[in-house]
Amino acid sequence: MARELSALLTLRDFERAAGSVLDAASWAYVAGGAAAQLTVRANAEAFDQVWLRPRALGGTTDEPDTSVTVLGQRLALPVLLAPTSPQRLLHHGAEISTARAAEAAGSLSIVSTDSHHAFPEVAGAVKGGCWFQLYAYRSREDVAATIALAEDAGATALVVTVDASYAARRVTTWRAGFRTPAHVDFGNLRSLGILTGEIPDGARIDRLPLTWEDLEWIRAQSQMPLVVKGILRAEDAERCLGLGADGVIVSNHGGRQLDGAVPSLVALEQVATAVAGRGLVLMDGGIRSGVHVAKALALGADAVCIGRPYLWGLGLAGQKGVEAVLDLLKHEIEDTLRQLGADSVADISADFAVRAQIRPSLAQGDIL
Ligand code: FNR
Repeated sequence: MARELSALLTLRDFERAAGSVLDAASWAYVAGGAAAQLTVRANAEAFDQVWLRPRALGGTTDEPDTSVTVLGQRLALPVLLAPTSPQRLLHHGAEISTARAAEAAGSLSIVSTDSHHAFPEVAGAVKGGCWFQLYAYRSREDVAATIALAEDAGATALVVTVDASYAARRVTTWRAGFRTPAHVDFGNLRSLGILTGEIPDGARIDRLPLTWEDLEWIRAQSQMPLVVKGILRAEDAERCLGLGADGVIVSNHGGRQLDGAVPSLVALEQVATAVAGRGLVLMDGGIRSGVHVAKALALGADAVCIGRPYLWGLGLAGQKGVEAVLDLLKHEIEDTLRQLGADSVADISADFAVRAQIRPSLAQGDIL
């Protein structure tokens, strides 16, 4: 597989390769979004409407610095692994393989409440720690127990997802007849007693419809830094900071919740302007290359998260596959920085980007 991985030159190559090895229903679940999947496509296509302005003779090194500091932790590249679940669908190593790959590459894994392995097993498999992503199930008592599970296991941040309280209309996933296979299971939900017996149809246990009061209450439940995921409006970002959040993730859940939700990249600029350095701004949705990472940084992100792309690597070759995805992105980011005349990620500022609605047609053979 190592030789085959090195033949994959773009993240789209990983996508095609993963699509050819996964069964059709699992593929539909991973690739799919809500309804007509307009937001899934727009997340990626929004990057094509932002253009980069290289600085002539701007760089002074051919080894640009791709590192960033995120909530006090130094990462080798400005790319984190977004929470996705349950990764056993793609590889038996699931979240443990992903977290190990993230650590090996100097990235960071955000582990979902809906993970296959219980969070303490995942956090225990790496030295540098993981972030824990919270879904609020059933009752405040259960939510408090979920947060305590993560904090006791050493989670280095708590990410609260606010855009998935309600099940979405994942039509393509339904059409493909996807059902969570029995061997996949949900380690945290089992150990917390939230899931007992068989996995329900659609693997959906009702979540609490979160309110701002709940978020304030969640803030008070732990000492962990708090990051709110699923923010698309400046005033919502303000409100998160106001209640003591340390940052936000500009995200529409990879287009899996509201079809027609604004592409993350479009929402990013306004949110980053409102936050104005007072908190961490991450973004996810549609990142498919190092050039995309640079565009997101120019529009105000401190770093980005990827979801599907690392799942493609995981599905192809477990930990090695995720490492290969991160390695490719690191090389692409380095190349982009050199071409831009920037010495480091920190050099990328708003003046590197300009918006223009030009959509070059792809000739046959130009395909990425
Ligand atoms: C997700 N996402 C997600 N988000 C979250 O907060 N908790 C979760 O458990 C999941 N699960 C999940 C499963 C799968 C299969 C996918 C593809 C996505 C959303 C994820 O964190 C992220 O927001 C998007 O994946 C980012 O978009 P891209 O990079 O996939 O385009």
